Amino acid sequence: MKAIVVKPGPRRVRLSWENAADPRPGPGEVLLEVHATAVNRADLLQARGQYPPPPGVTEILGLEAAGVVRELGAGVSGWSAGDRAMALLPGGGYAERAVVHAGLLLPLPEGWSFAQGAAVPEAWIAAYLNLFEEAGLRAGEIVLIHAGASGVGTAAIQLAVAEGARVFATAGAAAKLAACRALGAEAAIDYKTQDFAVEVKARSGGRGVDVILDPVGAAHLRRNLELLAPCGRLVNIGVMGGSRAEIDLALILSKSLRLIGSRLRPRPLAERVGIVGRFRERVLPRFLAGELKPVIDRVLPIAQAEAAHELIRENRNIGKVVLEIPRPA
Ligand SMILES: NC(=O)c1ccc[n+]([C@@H]2O[C@H](COP(=O)([O-])OP(=O)(O)OC[C@H]3O[C@@H](n4cnc5c(N)ncnc54)[C@H](OP(=O)(O)O)[C@@H]3O)[C@@H](O)[C@H]2O)c1
Repeated sequence: MKAIVVKPGPRRVRLSWENAADPRPGPGEVLLEVHATAVNRADLLQARGQYPPPPGVTEILGLEAAGVVRELGAGVSGWSAGDRAMALLPGGGYAERAVVHAGLLLPLPEGWSFAQGAAVPEAWIAAYLNLFEEAGLRAGEIVLIHAGASGVGTAAIQLAVAEGARVFATAGAAAKLAACRALGAEAAIDYKTQDFAVEVKARSGGRGVDVILDPVGAAHLRRNLELLAPCGRLVNIGVMGGSRAEIDLALILSKSLRLIGSRLRPRPLAERVGIVGRFRERVLPRFLAGELKPVIDRVLPIAQAEAAHELIRENRNIGKVVLEIPRPA
């Protein structure tokens, strides 16, 4: 098969579409013919050797895919060859074929393109997991979603609105702020020109927020803690704005705050299978009803993976950048 192979270079890595070994499904796994995958920031880090795959996982990039089930490993039930599926992968999506545990597959909604399917697993499952299972967001609560126009952010805004929460978002460009509002955010704040904590506090009548979903880290930490209402939860899912900061524990104690760190890929398989199962029950029906939709910035052929990474690195995307795998007609 063909796959993206990472070629280290003196100044930057090259992503080359070339021959690679075909994967074989083991017990409990299926072989997926990949029609589309999508870019995650973790892919950029992995390509530069800064986010190695967990032990036993392929070196091929790609945390999500959509395609057609072609072969079932021993003991797989509930899936048949020919089924259209979306997959949450530990790696291997940037390829013509990938193996995945059957418990990490979701049925592709009727009428959806493979590109739409590829835009769902990583961003939407991370948003669902961190808003609801980690932070325990409930209807009527107030949530602040940082990087609101990102892949995860565009999913999180929709999920929180659908749950009946009041949603605020931050982003760093006018078109991104407009996208956050169009998805249902009550207000979107330009964190580059405004103090988001002051703005959100004022808009919440001085109360602050119950939950913050934050991929930024250090640069936002002090204001995040100040903005949280009593019993508030801050879920940190990334460190795009640095990982080292000072914490005033008095704030955490006096307001009974919870600071939660959460990643998806390194979790044990059984945990990921459980999360995907609950996502299937709670969120998939809302895709089928047309209430929720993945936001796609653009779809590029996989041969342009380098250009796709560049777009993400330069923060130019609103929603997901999808890569299509060419198929003979
Ligand atoms: N823990 C998990 O399980 C998990 C799973 C998936 C993703 N993530 C993390 O979630 C984050 C979003 O991922 P994604 O793939 O959805 O991202 P994405 O679509 O690439 O968007 C990220 C956006 O974040 C903003 N940003 C970048 N650097 C920033 C900084 N220093 N301070 C503030 N904002 C910054 C930029 O938007 P603006 O123009 O608005 O600044 C950028 O477009 C990443 O950090 C990713 O690693 C975590």
